[in-house]
Amino acid sequence: MLDLERIRDLVNQRRSGHTLPQDLYNGSEVFKFDIEAIFGQSWILAGFTCEIPRPRGYLAVTIGGSPVVITRDGEGVYRAFHNSCRHRGAQVCADGAGGRARLTCPYHQWVYDLDGRLVHARNMPEDFEPAEHGLRPLHVENVAGALFVCLSETPPSFARFRADLEPLLAPHRLEGAKIAFQNTLVERGNWKLVMENARECYHCGVSHPELCLTFPIESSIDGHFTAAEDAHYDAFVARVEEAGLGKGPFIGPWWQVERFPLNKGHASLTIDGALACRKLMVEGAGDIGSLRWAIEPHSFCHSTADTTVYFSAMPTASGETVVTCKWLVHKDAVEGVDYDVEHLTALWNVTNLQDRDLVENNQRGVNSVGYMPGPYSLPDESYVQRFSDWYCDKAMDYIASRTGVDGRPIELRGVISGAVESPPGQVTHADQSRLPLGQQ
Ligand code: FES
Ligand SMILES: [Fe+2]
Repeated sequence: MLDLERIRDLVNQRRSGHTLPQDLYNGSEVFKFDIEAIFGQSWILAGFTCEIPRPRGYLAVTIGGSPVVITRDGEGVYRAFHNSCRHRGAQVCADGAGGRARLTCPYHQWVYDLDGRLVHARNMPEDFEPAEHGLRPLHVENVAGALFVCLSETPPSFARFRADLEPLLAPHRLEGAKIAFQNTLVERGNWKLVMENARECYHCGVSHPELCLTFPIESSIDGHFTAAEDAHYDAFVARVEEAGLGKGPFIGPWWQVERFPLNKGHASLTIDGALACRKLMVEGAGDIGSLRWAIEPHSFCHSTADTTVYFSAMPTASGETVVTCKWLVHKDAVEGVDYDVEHLTALWNVTNLQDRDLVENNQRGVNSVGYMPGPYSLPDESYVQRFSDWYCDKAMDYIASRTGVDGRPIELRGVISGAVESPPGQVTHADQSRLPLGQQ
């Protein structure tokens, strides 16, 4: 049993506008709590429909220690299940993707249909009921080719998020993409340190010389472009409008969606700023900036005209996080002809390695007996504050739902965490015609 009182005390110790108390990063009890209360209660961007490119197939991933399988049946219907056999609990499908008409557990060969029904189990007693031993279903949503899964039986509302993201993402035609490359990094740091790092660019100027060439790293609540660069922004807006694309920003309780311009002369998030793939995802487009869609608790994506890059941070232990990166390009693009993997991946590969070093260094300092929570820079770290506020609110909501006690002191609420769901098209962020980027 989790000691929810203890977690509530830790959250209550947090000073508004400051990093978290040490045990919220390092406690083994907190890690278990995070898996259950955060990763178990949030929508997770598990992958993409193009990873199951043909009818009858599956995509298996692990979310906070729980194996999950998403299936696509012969009619193109997507379903998600706990990837845990109803016999003795073995993982039915190894993590990865494949074509299958049925799913066979490797241990004793129980066989499941793609709709989760158990269709074969050898030598079971006469009173055994296959119908009672199907795979346990999970909630799944497909937004323009992006697959979201929630482990909770009562997931957060999805409609507003879909309304915000779908119109902006649909022109990127992810349903017609393929994974050109993917890799993983094991980072010796708590997942919250990984995400805090990903939610600010206060560190970018010094730590990411390559990213800075293409990525507008300046962050200001008044807008991130100087007056001299406004013509650049205006030209971007004109191009985006001409292409019939939306740009947001749309901010919800657990998402941020915004299309923004890259630096002058740069059309893609590559080292040289040149498009990484000749076959475009957005037909007829060129420099349309990047559509950044970020989802708490674990991911962000950048969609440019030519590619979408996916970043996901998954905790595997209190001090260990697996970062998965995927690059999507047009499914008909030919490697070596239309794109070069090195050119496509170099910028995020070098950036992710730089961030890994920053996170591991951050973790070492947080481990210190001398660690004290420190203040965020505003506006440069406003999205880190937003993340920490979201985490604390989510933690308190979960504890309240389990104990019936809401111990949340009013003064601990963050300035942005009070954001509530608003109708589509509205920004639940103070006074925003243009949001600060300030994050990767
Ligand atoms: S655990 Fe799956 S068939 Fe035995
Ligand atoms: Fe970074």
